[in-house]
Amino acid sequence: MAEVVGAFAVSHIMFNSFRAEEPELVYESYSEIGRRVQAADPDVVLMISGDHLLNLGGGIHIPFAVGVSDSWEAFGDMGVPVRERPGHRDFAEGLSAFLAENRVDAARLESEAFRPDHGYMCPMLFNDPDHEMPFVPFHVSGSLEPVPSLSRCIEVAELIGRYVREVRPAGERVVIEGTGGLSHWLMMEGHGEVAEEFDNWVLEQFESGNIAALQALTNAEIFEKSGNGGLEVLYWIMAAVAAGPIDSSDRIFYHPEWDTGLSAIEMKLAS
Ligand SMILES: [Fe+2]
Repeated sequence: MAEVVGAFAVSHIMFNSFRAEEPELVYESYSEIGRRVQAADPDVVLMISGDHLLNLGGGIHIPFAVGVSDSWEAFGDMGVPVRERPGHRDFAEGLSAFLAENRVDAARLESEAFRPDHGYMCPMLFNDPDHEMPFVPFHVSGSLEPVPSLSRCIEVAELIGRYVREVRPAGERVVIEGTGGLSHWLMMEGHGEVAEEFDNWVLEQFESGNIAALQALTNAEIFEKSGNGGLEVLYWIMAAVAAGPIDSSDRIFYHPEWDTGLSAIEMKLAS
């Protein structure tokens, strides 16, 4: 029985400084969540996010996928250095098998066909500047229709949580992190807008531990209120469900910056 030693959610974009109004503030904010992940001292980071059509955009639509590899080379978009990071093959293969046994046929992504993009590698730069912390990318298709329903995402997240607690070895330390969001509209009407009111409502639910209110949303509501990019909050909710009951969350930052509701939280697990 492994232990979830940390649960986090964070946005995942970094732009060149010439686009930033307050680059130092955003950089420092990302650094704070990175320090908290490091303090949790994980054996593995399970990162729930979604490919941005860089690996899976060529006519392939995969709703859910587990990244299975000994190492991952960054795709290199958004200025992320093209370097390798360790994966965790044993954790990933076991997760893939556990999901299959429980009627979730997630695809398997291997490093020959998948180079994690900024959705994974921006947060990992702050989690682990030394490129030594094993991580497993878990892909959810939040960018290609049909996006899996929130209720289906919750079912899958519950299984991820069961896998960690029921299958993984005692003493293993697992951080679960969802990345993306919050509100943004990408290449559609509304591009550049940020829905601060909705973002703050989302953050307040996390802060008060009212994950049930978030689970009651529908994809259509999320899309309407926070844009196509805002659907990445699915990854945040999945992280909360997978990590286990959440008592509350600590809002690390919220910056409506770079056309996006940039934010991060640390979730506090119920004891
Ligand atoms: Fe994204």
